[in-house]
Amino acid sequence: MNTKEHLIVYVDDERPNRIVFEQSFGNRFNVRALPSAAAALELLRNETAAALITDQRMPDMSGHELLVKVKQLYPEMIRVVITAYSDLDPILAAVNEGLVARYIIKPWDRAEVEQILLWSLEAFSLGRQKSALQLRLMQTERLVTLGSMAAAVLHDLHQPLTNLTVNVERLGEVGKSLEKVQQLMDAAGAALTKKDRTTLQELVTELPELARDLLTSCTVMTNMTVGLKQFLKAEPTAEPSGVDPVPIIQYAIGVCRETAVRARGRISYEGPPAMAKLHIGSTELTQVLINVVANGAQALLARNKSGGRVVVTAVEAEGGVLITIDDNGPGMSAEVLRKVGTPFFSTRPEGTGLGVAQCRRLVEGAGGTFVINSVEGQGTQVTFTIPKVASPRG
Ligand SMILES: Nc1ncnc2c1ncn2[C@@H]1O[C@H](COP(=O)(O)OP(=O)(O)OP(=O)(O)O)[C@@H](O)[C@H]1O
Ligand SMILES: [Mg+2]
Repeated sequence: MNTKEHLIVYVDDERPNRIVFEQSFGNRFNVRALPSAAAALELLRNETAAALITDQRMPDMSGHELLVKVKQLYPEMIRVVITAYSDLDPILAAVNEGLVARYIIKPWDRAEVEQILLWSLEAFSLGRQKSALQLRLMQTERLVTLGSMAAAVLHDLHQPLTNLTVNVERLGEVGKSLEKVQQLMDAAGAALTKKDRTTLQELVTELPELARDLLTSCTVMTNMTVGLKQFLKAEPTAEPSGVDPVPIIQYAIGVCRETAVRARGRISYEGPPAMAKLHIGSTELTQVLINVVANGAQALLARNKSGGRVVVTAVEAEGGVLITIDDNGPGMSAEVLRKVGTPFFSTRPEGTGLGVAQCRRLVEGAGGTFVINSVEGQGTQVTFTIPKVASPRG
């Protein structure tokens, strides 16, 4: 491919950025760096370009407005945005409107941008042939972008999460000295008012429990980030050694209990106190259960009257365990049921719409099946199976 055949337009209001861009890519590509959206539109009136790379934030016209214009005027041009991942909302909006093909996440890496420029030229040529291949290419690229955003978020999560874990561990340590407080309280007798005694008693009993729960949450989050990092690197993860689902079910119920209580409902587990070891990582199973149980608890909130319940059952079935999460929330219309599990589909204002998609991926990755049944006005039932670990031959 002749990489200088077509023009690539780069828009950034900061001069140092333009200089770096031209110096980095001017040798290999036919690039033109411009300071504003207006300058870009002016140039495009006279010249054809294969791709537009624009910064998101600019004084005269936002990157978004420029993209909308360019999409209208020159639909064949490949549009790429440079942005900080913290601008996630406009990014997702642009994905949905089909405004851009790719994002470059700041701070960018030279080799990565070079690949994107090569890709843009290729996509532009394919686009001129109006091939279905281009469409597929665009879709794949969207997922690649999401992957690099996830990697950036993960990277920035590491520090605060480590800090949180250390502090929670410390809190647990402090909790141990509460035995002493208990002894002092016992010795104080009538010197303590009833009210002070109640306050101190709460501290002594609740703090160690809180610290324990917080630490479990920290561990789950840390394992999740490790798991996601491995997934993004596509490194094979270790073969799971097998987990008993019951403690994980109970943990997920604990995490979601507050939501159910707010909805004046309850969550319970019905099943044996221990089960066969399942062929799935404990972090993965925790993610699945928290997502599905949380959806059930959130459905109780939507139901908006007391008497709501989420029941989790587990039974051993042929070769594995069958787990069911049943709720008597509002259920789903046929339309919603059809769309559930499509990434970013959500009917909740604060939902990301990644929960079910993730559950399905994890369950199927473990060799299980994942099914949702729902009747509008009655409730929803999620059923999934996870195979048992193969028992060693004896
Ligand atoms: N138990 C349920 N009862 C009713 N509707 C449900 C239930 N579970 C899922 N849904 C519907 O499916 C949609 C997608 O669920 P999903 O878990 O994938 O995303 P979300 O809950 O909206 O957001 P999040 O990514 O935070 O989980 C929900 O917005 C809701 O409309
Ligand atoms: Mg959800």
